[in-house]
Amino acid sequence: MTSLAGFHIVGLIVILCGLLGIWFIVGSDLSKGLKLPLLGRIVFGIALGSGVFAFMLKYFIFITVEESTKRRAAEFHKRFLAEQNYSIPPTTAIKINPNLRGANWQSLAQPVANLKTNLSAAELGKELFYDKALSINGEVSCATCHDIVKFGGTDGKPTATGVFGQIGPRNSPSVKNAAFMKTQFWDGRAKSLEEQAKGPMTNPIEMGKQSLGDVVSRLKQDEYYAKAFNQVYGKTGITETNLLNAIATYERTLITSDTPYDKYVAGDLKALSPQQIKGMKKFYSIGCKNCHDGPDFSRAGVNSLYNGSDGLRIFPVYTSNYSRQYDLIEKNSKSRTFRIPSLRNITETAPYFHNGKVNNLEEAVKIMAVSQLGMATKNVSPDCINNNSFSTCNKPKYLSDDDAKDIVEFLKSLSQEKNKN
Ligand code: HEC
Ligand code: HEC
Repeated sequence: MTSLAGFHIVGLIVILCGLLGIWFIVGSDLSKGLKLPLLGRIVFGIALGSGVFAFMLKYFIFITVEESTKRRAAEFHKRFLAEQNYSIPPTTAIKINPNLRGANWQSLAQPVANLKTNLSAAELGKELFYDKALSINGEVSCATCHDIVKFGGTDGKPTATGVFGQIGPRNSPSVKNAAFMKTQFWDGRAKSLEEQAKGPMTNPIEMGKQSLGDVVSRLKQDEYYAKAFNQVYGKTGITETNLLNAIATYERTLITSDTPYDKYVAGDLKALSPQQIKGMKKFYSIGCKNCHDGPDFSRAGVNSLYNGSDGLRIFPVYTSNYSRQYDLIEKNSKSRTFRIPSLRNITETAPYFHNGKVNNLEEAVKIMAVSQLGMATKNVSPDCINNNSFSTCNKPKYLSDDDAKDIVEFLKSLSQEKNKN
């Protein structure tokens, strides 16, 4: 609205200037010198003044389209949060620190304390999440690979270990705040938590059950579950749909919005240290926030201003000694596209990247600067690529070790101070 009001004032000034200009031309010596009749002078004036009107029209269209896109996104954001029983987070973008202006820093919504009827579904889902009976040999539960307390919803291993000690190809991502992701998995191939939850139980490497039907029959043998499902879902009881719904409902409660960053965004100026604020500025000014944006620090977050985006990006964009050293180019992947991961709880979820090959967060930050932004660090520059449109062979921008350390300090503010879930 403010820019609409701004538009009215600027628009009015432009119209007035335009009219004045036309008046001047119509009445000026120039028209008189040409000895034009009054009508001729008016046509002449309009012809010369039309540029002003064209500018006005373009300006108007531009502002209208931009405003309506923003409004639609904001409405979607609100509706989504309300439907899913989340409180609307404070929208105080950071106005307090002038150096942080220009970026839209958002905080995360919280589940409403009383999730109404869903509370018991969430409790049931929690039990299922921790139940090893959901796997073929009774040794693996969701929590085996998604440890909520110790590793921020991951397993602390490079890649996941499932039933019979089998090792999978990818790193376990966090289940925390996954509720806000438009798509699930490193490459965004599942569209919802329910769809995602189907995968691991029947994945031969993860939990190894033959089918979801198998899991349902197993649960039906358990009197406790028969009762609990009836309580939550009424007569339908234990079904595949209810099983997936319970697990997903539990996952929707795993929201970590009580971080120093969120406090700072809400106006608590002491919540971040000076070094963290420095890192926050760097994070924005060099372009990390172009991808890691919104309250989740991922464009795939439906609660961000980018709810229309799947948030997929090529990784690595620029090859370098980093991509060779850490094997970052995924084999058998044609498109090399990955969902921009959230950076919340990042200090707890090492090792990093889809292959879990990087243990150290500062190293991960440097890798990002080189491989996604084409910057250089002390030891590594992006490979020299020269084509018509761009070149990385000239001197790239430099990320110093101190810059990387400042960014790491800022990233620390995205974790909860205590593990609460
Ligand atoms: C053997 C380890 C393992 C088990 C067991 C496991 N997962 Fe996962 N989970 C993973 C891995 C690995 C991925 C990423 C796979 C990929 O991207 O290809 C993943 C991805 C996810 C994601 C997507 C998160 C995101 O940000 O994209 C969710 C949600 C999830 N798992 C929930 C569950 C649930 C619920 C269960 C139990 C029904 C479960 N997982 C069991 C290893 C596991
Ligand atoms: C062009 C988009 C883009 C930019 C710019 C970008 N990132 Fe990333 N980031 C990604 C993608 C995509 C991944 C996932 C890579 C993968 O598949 O392992 C990622 C992964 C990460 C990870 C590891 C996450 C995890 O859970 O393992 C960190 C940390 C990170 N980025 C921080 C940064 C920082 C700091 C910057 C700025 C220096 C930055 N990113 C710039 C797209 C981007």
